[in-house]
Amino acid sequence: MCGIFGYVTSNEEALGPILIAAAERLTYRGYDSVGAATINRGKIDLRKDVGKVDAVAAKYNIAEMRGQRGITQLRWATFGEPSQVNSQPHLDSMGDMVGAHNGNVVNNVELREQFMAEGMTVRSQNDGETCVHAVERYISRGYQFIDAIRLAYGDLQGDYTFVIGRADDDKLYAFKKGSGMVVGLGAGFTCVSSDLPSILPLTRSVIRPHDGEIVTLWADHVEVRSVKDGKLIDRQPELVTETMDAVQKGGYPHFMLKEIHEQAQVARELLHLLDGSSDVQPLIEKMKSARHLYFIGCGTSYHAAMAGAVYFAQLAGRAVIPILAPQFIAQYAPAVGYEDVGIFVSQSGETKDVLNALEAAEVRGMTCFGLANVVGSTLTKATSFCLPLCCGYEISVPATKTFTNQVVTFLYLAYRMAGKNTSDLARIPELMEQTIEMVAPQIEKIAQDINEWNDMYCLGYGATYPIALEGALKLKEITYAHCEGMLSTEFKHGPLSAVSKGFPIVFIAGPNDVPLIISGINEVKVRGARTIVVAEDDPRLRANGDDLVVIPNSDPHTYALLAVLPLQLLSYHMSVMRGFDPDFPRNLSKTLTVD
Ligand code: G6P
Repeated sequence: MCGIFGYVTSNEEALGPILIAAAERLTYRGYDSVGAATINRGKIDLRKDVGKVDAVAAKYNIAEMRGQRGITQLRWATFGEPSQVNSQPHLDSMGDMVGAHNGNVVNNVELREQFMAEGMTVRSQNDGETCVHAVERYISRGYQFIDAIRLAYGDLQGDYTFVIGRADDDKLYAFKKGSGMVVGLGAGFTCVSSDLPSILPLTRSVIRPHDGEIVTLWADHVEVRSVKDGKLIDRQPELVTETMDAVQKGGYPHFMLKEIHEQAQVARELLHLLDGSSDVQPLIEKMKSARHLYFIGCGTSYHAAMAGAVYFAQLAGRAVIPILAPQFIAQYAPAVGYEDVGIFVSQSGETKDVLNALEAAEVRGMTCFGLANVVGSTLTKATSFCLPLCCGYEISVPATKTFTNQVVTFLYLAYRMAGKNTSDLARIPELMEQTIEMVAPQIEKIAQDINEWNDMYCLGYGATYPIALEGALKLKEITYAHCEGMLSTEFKHGPLSAVSKGFPIVFIAGPNDVPLIISGINEVKVRGARTIVVAEDDPRLRANGDDLVVIPNSDPHTYALLAVLPLQLLSYHMSVMRGFDPDFPRNLSKTLTVD
C-alpha cells in the first residue's frame, strides 16, 4: 500500500535523513519503489527508483538532499509496473511542481490521454503523476493553487491522498479523498503523511483532516479548507498518546484484526477501480467466447475461485471449473487449448504451484489472465492481463482482505457477464461494516465457549460451501486445531460418527437453503453437537440452532461474502485465546515459492 510523507520547514535543512527515516517508518505498509523530492531555493531535486528504502537511498545519495520542503513516497504498484519512471514523486510538464499520492485514481488511463492531447508531458503510466497534471491543468489556465486542487478533485475519481508543492513558493498542499491522511505540527516545521508512524517520532501534535479537505502547510502553521467551497475549516490539533507498535497496527493488537477491519474500505476502493477500468469489458468478452473457463488457485485463493464459479453459474448461467493449481496440471492441462480461458488467482502472485499451472496452460495456448494483489509479481507479468486486488499490503499470514476482494472481483465479473447493473454492489462495503459490528461481541463469546475443542467442522452449501472451506482453513491455520470444511450434505456420509456431546459444528446458511441446513443441524444436534449457525435472521434457524450469528440481510449472493467475516473473527479470537500469534502462525509462509 503506498505511503506519502511531506515536510515543510522555514530554513534550508538537510532533509534527506528526515525523508529516509519517514520512508522507513512507512515500510510496514508494503512497497516496491521509493522516491524523494526536495524543493530548495526554487529548484526541485527528484530521486527515485524501484527497490528497498536503504538501497534506493544509498544508490541516489538521498541523505545529501537539502531544502525547505521535501516529499517522500513509497509505492505499491497498481497503475504501471514497478519501474523507475513509474516511481513517485512525479513532476509536472515543466518541472515546476512535484507531487505524490497514495491510493488509486480509477480514471487514470482516460485522464492521461486527455493530458497528452492537451500537450502536457506525461512520463509514466502512474496515477500519482495524473494527480500532478490534474492540478497543472488548472494552474496553467491561471487558477490559484487551492482552486486548481478543487477543480482537479472534480476530475480525479477514486480514493486517494496526495501532496504537492511548487518550486516558487514556500508551502506544500495536501488533499484527502478516501485514503488516510494525518498532519503533524512541530517546532519550526509541519508535516503530512498517509498515517501516524512516520509522524510520531517528530511530533505528537496532529490534525486528522476529513475527506474532501485541502491542507496548506507552512513551516509554522497549517490551514484546512473544504474542497467544496474553498472555505476555511477549524480543525484543532490533538495529542497522540499511543505507542509506535499500536500505531502501526492502527490501534489493533494484531495485523490480522486490523486487516479484517480494513475489508470494507478495500472493497470500496476495488469497486471504484473496477467501475473505472476499461480493461474489464475486454476480459468479459474473452470469457464469454471461451469454450471452457477455469479459475485456478491454491489455499484461500482457491476458495475465492470456488465462490466465483458459483456466482458465474448462478448469475450469468456460465459454467466455470474452479480447480487447485497442481490438480489443474494433472487433470485439465492435457485437455485445454487456445479456445479456453483461465483466471489464475493469487494474493502474492508468486505461489509456485500457481505459476507451474500457468506454465502448463500457456504451453497449450490457453488464454491466461491473472487476479493478484501484488502488482509487479511474477503472475502479473506472466499473464496477458492481470486485475489488481487493491488491498495494499497484507501482513498477517492468514489472508482476509485479499480473500474478500477476490470474491468481490468475481461477483463483479459475474454481474458484468450477466449484464446486471453493478451499482447494486456499491452497498457491499457498508454491509461488511455492519456485519462486523453485529457479530463481533457474540463471536468472542462463542470462541470462549468452544475453545477447548481441537476438532471442529464448518459446513456450507452452494455459495457458502467455499466460505465453509475458507472458515475451516482460517481455524486450522491459526488455532492449530483440526477443522474441516465440508459440503453440509456430505457430513452424514461419514464424519457424523465423530460427533459427541458439545462437538462444535458451524453451519453457514444461505437464505434459500434454510430447510436443507435445518436437516443438517438436527442430524448432528440429536447426537449432541453444539450448532453455531451463521445466517441472515430467520426464526426457523433460531428455533433449531444453538447459536445464531446474524449477518445483515443482503441478497442471494452477497450473504456468502458477508458470512466469512464472523469466521475470520472466530479463528482470530480462538488463536489469541490459545496464546498464539495469529499474524505469524507456526510452520506457515505467506508466499510459498516452492513445489
Ligand atoms: C500459502 C498461504 C495461504 C495462501 C496460499 C496461496 O499457503 O499460507 O494463506 O492462501 O499460499 O497463496 P496466494 O498468494 O497464491 O494466494
